[in-house]
Amino acid sequence: MEKTFVMVKPDGVQRNLVGEIINRFERKGFQLVGAKLMVISNELAETHYGEHKEKAFFGELVDFITSGPVFAMVWEGEDAVTTARNLIGKTNPSEANPGTIRGDFGVIVGKNIIHGSDSLESAEREINLFFKQNELISYEKQV
Ligand code: CMP
Repeated sequence: MEKTFVMVKPDGVQRNLVGEIINRFERKGFQLVGAKLMVISNELAETHYGEHKEKAFFGELVDFITSGPVFAMVWEGEDAVTTARNLIGKTNPSEANPGTIRGDFGVIVGKNIIHGSDSLESAEREINLFFKQNELISYEKQV
């Protein structure tokens, strides 16, 4: 069983897409094990997107992701990292297939609605950045 980190970005929250996005992950068969509505600090944004530090759009990316509330989630399931990326669609919404979240709701790459971890290592790193262990639910303990 894998866990992955998924975050509805400020544009997705502002456009009231949180419910739609949760619905798609639930219908797919994943379990929500953590969730929080939050405003990201500059420090957290710079750490989260550290791999893009040298890119020309880094400043714009940090400004945008800290511009309003995001909805951070952890989803659990079989092959959760890859399957979540498939549900989300390609980074640039203009290349994302219809039926994916970015393909259905996004237009430009800088405001692409949602973020999803791109590997198991990223998922672990990002989950630990945004959530404490005691904020994650373990359904295995439930009878
Ligand atoms: P995300 O999956 O959150 O990971 C990195 C983000 O950088 C990506 O989604 C895009 O929103 C953003 N990004 C990538 N390319 C560009 C670009 N050319 N201009 C602005 N933002 C970009």
